[in-house]
Amino acid sequence: MIDRTSSYLAGLFSLEGRTAVVTGGSSGIGRAIALALARAGASVVVVARRERELADAVADLRSHGCRAAWVGADLGSRQGVAEAARGAVEPFGEPDIVVSAAGINLRPPMQELGEEVWDATMAVNLDAPFLLGQRFGPGMAERGFGRLIHIASQQAFRAFVTSGAYGVSKAGLVALARSQAEAWSARGVTANALVPGFVLTPLNARLQDDPARVEELAARTMTGRNGVAEDFAGAAVFLSSPASSYVTGQAIFVDGGFSVH
Ligand SMILES: NC(=O)c1ccc[n+]([C@@H]2O[C@H](COP(=O)([O-])OP(=O)(O)OC[C@H]3O[C@@H](n4cnc5c(N)ncnc54)[C@H](OP(=O)(O)O)[C@@H]3O)[C@@H](O)[C@H]2O)c1
Repeated sequence: MIDRTSSYLAGLFSLEGRTAVVTGGSSGIGRAIALALARAGASVVVVARRERELADAVADLRSHGCRAAWVGADLGSRQGVAEAARGAVEPFGEPDIVVSAAGINLRPPMQELGEEVWDATMAVNLDAPFLLGQRFGPGMAERGFGRLIHIASQQAFRAFVTSGAYGVSKAGLVALARSQAEAWSARGVTANALVPGFVLTPLNARLQDDPARVEELAARTMTGRNGVAEDFAGAAVFLSSPASSYVTGQAIFVDGGFSVH
């Protein structure tokens, strides 16, 4: 009975034999997703800038018996993205799954939002996922299987806590998933965005300094709590797996009901 159940579940969700690249896989949501995909069977390459955090994340994945490697690269420039793409294929070959979780949120008030913050935000949050899609999407389509997963934000849909350039970049990402889905879904490549609520990670450490604000955000959910990085494990495995082959071009909210409350 157990064997029948596990082979059924493996057919739906196993990532055995797949290769994944997870940008931002050294911290927060990206790190939790990297671990989830690796534990579901994928060989995982994590990409970010800080080497100590990357090595720590890879050690964690390997401690679970997973295949993992890291590439240090700055996705804030086109050259950095090209270097990341070159390095990412070295350990395990061309990826079947690319998760773009690397992101920055600089939050200056709109009237102080200059070109530098705008450009830096667009480069990491939007240009890098686009460039990685252009690099890896066509190969996935040729091979007949691929998964492009973007981490968007509530601020793609509504403005709050100084959405500025960040909200614009995330709205672009939701549209990018649709464009990629339109291009490649007929050849087995799906593209989707996951939409978090407020998740307790280093990204919003500054907001977390204000306990009243954190409570207020938790109260805006239906579950009564803010998100944690591990909340994204199941959705990421689903979107990476054969089970989601008919789900494409979507923005899937993993937010405890934040968006519908
Ligand atoms: N936390 C939330 O409430 C929340 C809500 C909505 C959406 N999100 C989105 O979820 C994603 C993950 O965020 P998180 O909360 O998990 O944040 P996090 O813990 O700060 O992780 C961000 C990751 O991105 C990497 N990164 C940042 N800039 C980079 C660059 N220029 N080049 C390469 N890697 C870079 C970081 O590593 P290095 O700094 O070492 O490069 C780190 O691994 C982001 O796209 C974020 O916008 C988060």
